[in-house]
Amino acid sequence: MTHHERLLIIDFGSQVTQLIARRLRELHVYCEIHPFNRVDDAFLRDFAPKAIIFSGGPASVFEDGAPMPPKAAFEAGVPILGICYGQQAMMHCLGGKVERGHGTAEFGRAFVTPVEAKLSLLDGWFEDGGREQVWMSHGDHVSEIAPGFEVYGTSPNAPFAITADPVRQFFAVQFHPEVHHTPKGAKLYENFVRLAGFKGDWTMGAYREDAIAKIREQVGDQKVICGLSGGVDSSVAAVLIHEAIGDQLTCVFVDHGLLRKGEAEQVVTMFRDHYNMPLIHADESELFLTALEGVTDPEVKRKTIGRLFIEVFEKHAKSVGGATFLAQGTLYPDVIESVSFSGGPSVTIKSHHNVGGLPEKMGMKLVEPLRELFKDEVRALGRELGLPDSFIGRHPFPGPGLAIRCPGEITRDKLEILRNADAVFIDQIRRHGLYDAIWQAFVALLPVKTVGVMGDGRTYDYACALRAVTSVDGMTADYYPFSHEFLGETATRIINEVRGINRVTYDITSKPPGTIEWE
Ligand code: XMP
Repeated sequence: MTHHERLLIIDFGSQVTQLIARRLRELHVYCEIHPFNRVDDAFLRDFAPKAIIFSGGPASVFEDGAPMPPKAAFEAGVPILGICYGQQAMMHCLGGKVERGHGTAEFGRAFVTPVEAKLSLLDGWFEDGGREQVWMSHGDHVSEIAPGFEVYGTSPNAPFAITADPVRQFFAVQFHPEVHHTPKGAKLYENFVRLAGFKGDWTMGAYREDAIAKIREQVGDQKVICGLSGGVDSSVAAVLIHEAIGDQLTCVFVDHGLLRKGEAEQVVTMFRDHYNMPLIHADESELFLTALEGVTDPEVKRKTIGRLFIEVFEKHAKSVGGATFLAQGTLYPDVIESVSFSGGPSVTIKSHHNVGGLPEKMGMKLVEPLRELFKDEVRALGRELGLPDSFIGRHPFPGPGLAIRCPGEITRDKLEILRNADAVFIDQIRRHGLYDAIWQAFVALLPVKTVGVMGDGRTYDYACALRAVTSVDGMTADYYPFSHEFLGETATRIINEVRGINRVTYDITSKPPGTIEWE
């Protein structure tokens, strides 16, 4: 990829390293995170960063084999910012001293006060001569700074909270400027990239151009297939690849009969008619629903759906006449190599395949044009590519679809009831302007019938549960605090408008201990 200006983040295993990348991307600076034990002199030469950041991490420089940056980093002639452990490692390497934190550990909010001369890294800090709030999380601390360094900020438990060697442009901070609890942290990163000479030209427009060139180079005149789920990631990947290679791309949309109301039509209309993409609409609902008859165990449901999905996908992929590439909407958080310190430094690669098992089974090469992007950047790229906001902002929808929202046996009747109830709930959320405030919302149809009364008659119908959560990444979640009026109105609408449901409940379980989906 033709990135002219790259910043390298050397990861020492901090929980918040990804946030450093976020802050930099917000400043339109292209950066990559690489674990310290993958960054050697040759890597550095090759990467040619315009600046380097050492992340924090859980280690202590006193440990045997403590992680250290390569010597070449200090000889690269580029600005370096060391954060927390990265600061200690920097001092250790350059001739300073680090002390074990006996009784001086500092976790949480602290205040840094200015010491003396001005430092360009701190423009906009200490503006009224006062102190700045920062977030500390350290046991060890620097007790003697390396030759050439001076102190620019100090806190009660970290006398060398901010130090720098302005000649070599090496900066070291004991706190974490990337977290929100350091309110002026973003300003510090802004100053750092400015003094490093970044133009800040990492825009989605530039990314789009680069990505298109890279896809063309990778694919040549070969064919590519893309499993389109209708979700944001696969949609953005498909549109981007289509822009790069046109009709060498064929999308396969597998309709397993477990989609929401109107979903298949929406996806097919948009991609085939609006974008003119070759699209196979594989209506395989009979196959899936027949195979799921009598299945009640959630794991068996998931495995059945996964197996059939691969079969169907393979069948249709063959029909495009020898595709050698499979496109996937893999995102950056899925591919960042994480550093593990258990039993010595080791590297685990977390790799998520949207179409699990397919690439290995089919012997295909992968095209993953979103590998360098965070979720919100994928949304920005989608907007850049002209995808409508209503599509880009869609709530996530799981691969197994309504099957995991219908505990117990799945029948066509139940799916119809569930689809109708779900449509009313989402309509309510939209009418009340709440859709974008919610991570995910849906109805689960319970395998329980209850007695009710409507008009003068007795009813005996299904109960359902509404589920709506807020979340940042789907790993943890809180239930959405709807008003009683909203809940009452929604229950009334569902019972009046959906045949087959006579009782509505609201699921107020957070994750953990619950999960977002019911199965
Ligand atoms: P849970 O239920 O585990 O879900 O809290 C977390 C997030 O993942 C989605 N999810 C899936 N997505 N295939 C997917 O593509 C799946 O099998 C699957 N299971 C859960 C879920 O909708 C939520 O956003």
